[in-house]
Amino acid sequence: MEKKHTGKFEIEDVKQWSLLLLPYKFALDELKTKMNIMAEETMYMNDSNPIEHIKTRIKKVNSIQAKLERKNIAPTMRNAKDYIFDIAGMRIVCSFITDIYDIYARLSNRKDIKIIEVKDYIKSPKSNGYQSLHIIVQVPVTLSHGVEQVYAEIQLRTLAMDFWAGLEHKIYYKYDKKIPGNLERELLKAAQTAKLMDEKMMGIREEVRSLS
Ligand code: GTP
Ligand code: MG
Repeated sequence: MEKKHTGKFEIEDVKQWSLLLLPYKFALDELKTKMNIMAEETMYMNDSNPIEHIKTRIKKVNSIQAKLERKNIAPTMRNAKDYIFDIAGMRIVCSFITDIYDIYARLSNRKDIKIIEVKDYIKSPKSNGYQSLHIIVQVPVTLSHGVEQVYAEIQLRTLAMDFWAGLEHKIYYKYDKKIPGNLERELLKAAQTAKLMDEKMMGIREEVRSLS
């Protein structure tokens, strides 16, 4: 006989997980406002926008559970809160590499955002060519029961790095996470070209700035 109540337990479970994810949504809402204010202020002061666009996403429950299992940690809500730092994800795409480090410097100076970890894949790209600056932060979110410190991952990259990462991601899944060697080599070359382009664009901007 099929157990009739299984479905109900699952619904309760889904409800509990949705409740867990709510503060992460609020953290992203807050972070997005902070970043937009920062960009707008910079635009008034320097007449250039350091942010091209911002995207946010909340990790799906099954991906959170799968990540915990990959780390050999029981897939509970408590563990998700304590051990998964990228449930809330924000990607900030900039025109220039200098914008990325300016934003990072300004984030570091803030009292309302705590930097937990930084991975600089721009200074040290991954072996496949991947470049971005990853920052794990903690932001306070005020809820009815008090203030919760919520983790979020901020990825900062240029338009060229984002273009590359988007294509690499598609190829990675198209080939079921095993990219053929020739494509891997082509992707690495493309990443190096993206880096040259970023450096060239920065040089041109500096030249224009020095003239005006
Ligand atoms: P996880 O958080 O488990 O993924 O491991 P980690 O902390 O070592 O990962 P890392 O912080 O290096 O990267 C996390 C995220 O960066 C991923 O979820 C992707 O969004 C992005 N990323 C990292 N490496 C690559 C890559 O090689 N290609 C692309 N397209 N994205 C990447
Ligand atoms: Mg990570």
